[in-house]
Amino acid sequence: MNIHLTKSQIGLDGVPAAETVLSHVDGERGELIIAGEHVAELASRSSFEGVTARLWTAATGRPLAEADVRKSLGAARGDARPVDADLLPATRGLSIVDGFRAAIAGLRAENGLDHEATIVGAFPVIAGALVRRASGDAPVAPDPNASHAADTLAMLRGRKPQPREVTALDAYLVTVCDHGMNASTFTTRVVASTQADLFAAVTAGYCALTGPLHGGAPEPVLEMLDAIGTRERIKPWVDDALSRGERLMGFGHRVYRVRDPRADVLKAAIERLATDGADLPFAGEVEAYIRQALRRKNPDRPLETNVEFFTAILLDALAIPRQAFTPIFAVARAAGWTAHAREQQRTGRLIRPSSSYVGPMPG
Ligand code: ACO
Repeated sequence: MNIHLTKSQIGLDGVPAAETVLSHVDGERGELIIAGEHVAELASRSSFEGVTARLWTAATGRPLAEADVRKSLGAARGDARPVDADLLPATRGLSIVDGFRAAIAGLRAENGLDHEATIVGAFPVIAGALVRRASGDAPVAPDPNASHAADTLAMLRGRKPQPREVTALDAYLVTVCDHGMNASTFTTRVVASTQADLFAAVTAGYCALTGPLHGGAPEPVLEMLDAIGTRERIKPWVDDALSRGERLMGFGHRVYRVRDPRADVLKAAIERLATDGADLPFAGEVEAYIRQALRRKNPDRPLETNVEFFTAILLDALAIPRQAFTPIFAVARAAGWTAHAREQQRTGRLIRPSSSYVGPMPG
């Protein structure tokens, strides 16, 4: 009784909570392996459908090819249209992030498709409809024959994307589709461990994703770059924010003690996209100064660039509104969440940890 836990114990730092064949994060070496491949390798040659096929195959033991997933996601996007029309009224008056939460909570099994395909297919349809409504536009009908990345961009922006834009979004979707036992995946697995269905498990995962310490960081990254504004203001702005004890979004990670490997994959995707919409040299100067300032402030705690810094720049360069960044993260991570939920149901056990009671005793 009355045993106070350390900060690391409270955060479950380094505590394994599942056996998984889906992904592995090595925080010391800065490595991420997804379904047996390094993330940089996967992002350079796999589509979102390809990596989703690998994750679902690994989770269920049922072999799936990229073409099977492309077909089922196309069908699911097509079927999601009536669902989305039903669900949108429930999201009236809510922000895009909150509306997305309300809409996905109302998803249900449709037309005999696997639950995982229904979920992953519906996500971009819902995100697209919410983004379009926010700008006063009508939703764009999904194209079941397009790739998931191409159709996501078309439904968000209302015009057919260029091939290099599709390549860039596909690289993003692959890069962030899964990432070990992060907070939202853990949440998903806890819910799945009760044998609740995939819709419940993934909705819970999305709720965890929305916090700024997890998937809610990219919008504030852009706000930070906007607030800094010019090269001359980098040093005073950053020094000031740190002296007020603020956390700088897009930096630091619970597991990585070196640079997040996904940051460089996304930086390379932005370079290949070659658009005037991304001021990479300015972002690079901000990044370099923040890393230096964080080293000065916390010499014993390595705080490096994380995936969210370049996520913000990439999604902004693709003209995706910043208010939709977290739902777009979910479009990608839904592949990982559904795989983890299935794996948990198949091989796991009810997750039920204990707590240390530090309250008063009776009498
Ligand atoms: N900016 C400034 N200081 C920071 C930052 C940061 N981004 N991150 C950590 N620190 C400081 C903490 O304030 C703490 O200082 P203190 O000891 O003086 O209180 C010290 O570094 C150690 O922090 P920890 O508690 O060990 O950090 P934790 O592991 O809890 O945090 C986290 C990880 C939440 C990601 C943190 O680095 C952070 O808040 N980053 C900013 C938000 C962000 O970018 N989130 C996206 C993460 S990636 C993802 O989830 C997809």
